[in-house]
Amino acid sequence: MAENKKKLTDEIMIGPRKAQNRFFIQAMETNMEDPSGNPSERTTQRYIDLAEGGAGMITLEAITVTRECRARDNQLTIMPQNQAALTKFMDRVHNANPSAIVVFQLTHSGELSSPEFSRRVTPNPLPGYGGDLLSEEDVEHIMDDFVTAAKIAYNAGADGIDLKLCHGYFGSQMIRPYNNRDWKFGGSWENRTRFPYELMERIRKEVPDKNFLIGSKISAWEGFPGGFGTDGPDSPVMDLTEPIKLIKGLEERGASYIVQSAGSPGITISLTQCDKHVPYFAYLHQYWSKEFRKVLKPETVVIGSNFSVFRSGKNDLCAVEPEKSGLLPYGEWCVNHDVCDMIALGRQSLADPFLPKKVMEGRENEINFCLLCDACLELLIQQSKVGCCVHDPLAREELVRTRKEKGRLKQSHT
Ligand SMILES: Cc1cc2nc3c(=O)[nH]c(=O)nc-3n(C[C@H](O)[C@H](O)[C@H](O)COP(=O)(O)O)c2cc1C
Repeated sequence: MAENKKKLTDEIMIGPRKAQNRFFIQAMETNMEDPSGNPSERTTQRYIDLAEGGAGMITLEAITVTRECRARDNQLTIMPQNQAALTKFMDRVHNANPSAIVVFQLTHSGELSSPEFSRRVTPNPLPGYGGDLLSEEDVEHIMDDFVTAAKIAYNAGADGIDLKLCHGYFGSQMIRPYNNRDWKFGGSWENRTRFPYELMERIRKEVPDKNFLIGSKISAWEGFPGGFGTDGPDSPVMDLTEPIKLIKGLEERGASYIVQSAGSPGITISLTQCDKHVPYFAYLHQYWSKEFRKVLKPETVVIGSNFSVFRSGKNDLCAVEPEKSGLLPYGEWCVNHDVCDMIALGRQSLADPFLPKKVMEGRENEINFCLLCDACLELLIQQSKVGCCVHDPLAREELVRTRKEKGRLKQSHT
């Protein structure tokens, strides 16, 4: 096997900003904010840990642009009333490590909003979901909310935003072929991309600072009929034509990074986060990120997903060289083989927020690797506070309480 030249510990430019290494922390919802959606002390501590943990770039968990429609009862929120709290929060996170790049993942939950405590709305109801059908005027308001949120993020000291176009949330609902309603925002490719494209253009115009990064996390294939990355409103068959067009369109409008993902967890959860039963689905992610890498400009950073399953090398994946099958050597192999420029850590970042620092300091043997128990996911699905139930005693207590009160979740991956 050829020697790797690039290291995960190498710096990398993301637009005009320099990331200290090629580790990227995924957005991971924790559902533990105060009743106004301001960061709680526990949330703040999580991001301070991540900043001290040394990752080059950190994404804040999905932060909703409106309380009216949201997926989590205690979801982090970005509305004018949250400005002061978010500013204080960012001051503390940046003080912990001024060189960590921190971006906010802006979201609206659309048809994944929980009707138990918010309003479910939809561009075109999917079987099993539904919700109030959105008008063109409603979408214009939602776009205004996103632009306001981007300005709040900028004023709060965030280094950029991630426009969430993945995992079945509102952005995905707008761009997927299933949105084939005859309206300004549906049917043709031009209409379906009006939401992300106009939004990117407006955000660039209203936050003209080039240091403020804009990027997006995309589900390359949602994996159900009419989902994004399929070849028609009633076809489940994968076709990357639209995902490729989308990322190039975002790049033209100023995106300096793209986070590759897949699936829509409400429907195809094992595609979004490969579990211990299907760890080899991770290789699909590396195929998608490589396809993304091929078509974007070299300076646009492609971030690959689903590295948690590789663990320390103790995984059920067949390997030609078992000692190179762990997250670190395999991640390094990926950045050397045009699969991606950075590797993203999701569940692994809950298990050990300090992984990047440990690698930078040559203390790999001290890393707590994710066990893929997926109890973090169980907590999220049950609307409980999220954390690593193996390494965080508070999260463990929360799991015990949740199972006592709500029963154990019957999921193949938990
Ligand atoms: C508890 C939990 C919370 C998550 N929250 C988000 C989120 O806020 N935004 C998002 O784009 N993805 C979210 N995801 C998906 C992860 O960011 C990531 O794409 C997925 O877990 C695969 O990466 P991994 O294998 O490193 O865990 C979440 C996943 C889990 C398990």
